[in-house]
Amino acid sequence: MMEFVNLGDATLAAQYVAIEMFRTIQKQSEPKLGLATGGTMEPVYKSLVQLIEHNPIDLSALKTFNLDEYYGLDKDHPQSYLYFMKHHLFNHIDITENQYYFPDNNAVNLEADNQAYDQLVKSPDGVHLQILGIGTNGHIGFNEPGTPFDSNTRLVQLTDETIQANARFFNHVEEVPTRAVTMGIKTIMSAERIILLAVGKKKQPIIHELYHMEIPDTDVPASVLLTHPDVLIVTDNEAAPQY
Ligand code: PGA
Repeated sequence: MMEFVNLGDATLAAQYVAIEMFRTIQKQSEPKLGLATGGTMEPVYKSLVQLIEHNPIDLSALKTFNLDEYYGLDKDHPQSYLYFMKHHLFNHIDITENQYYFPDNNAVNLEADNQAYDQLVKSPDGVHLQILGIGTNGHIGFNEPGTPFDSNTRLVQLTDETIQANARFFNHVEEVPTRAVTMGIKTIMSAERIILLAVGKKKQPIIHELYHMEIPDTDVPASVLLTHPDVLIVTDNEAAPQY
């Protein structure tokens, strides 16, 4: 079931998502979280770091799995998603390198590594909570429009729309990698629970479209979430659909 909640304010929306992540870590004995990157997630991790600072919590059994990583970028490149996660979360909490996982973006045997990543994410039962952003074209992870719903972790070509959207993080658009390794749609759907966060007016058209969709369509990758038992779409006023 896909439900929507408009929390009005973008900061509040990010805090809400952070609280849900925090509560998942508190409740599970071996918590597994699926993590996302992107501008939308920066305040989420800021709030999560604060919650972890202000409350006693044991992170030693936590495992995190990131959705995606640019292909071919060095791990310490400032625009790599590993760097993003260290900068916004991992460096600020008590977590070690063997607790966070990314799809391998420099693999010699990419296919085998992608299969292994899928297995890690899915076994034994998928992540307890998967956090998602959404692209203006409806992508989740780097699953661009047209991606089959039964796709697994794999190497993908980014669309021009995504490359343009991500250019704001680089000096020049030519520097944006054109390929990435991403969890597949099937991998994402293996999560027990999913929260998608969308804020700002650029996301309103796609959230509006999603809200009014009744049948999943591969042209809007996020519409697969209609078939998941537990999905919450969290927005601020600017991204909220017209009901
Ligand atoms: P953004 O990216 O948070 O930077 O808008 C979201 C996404 O592309 O999934």
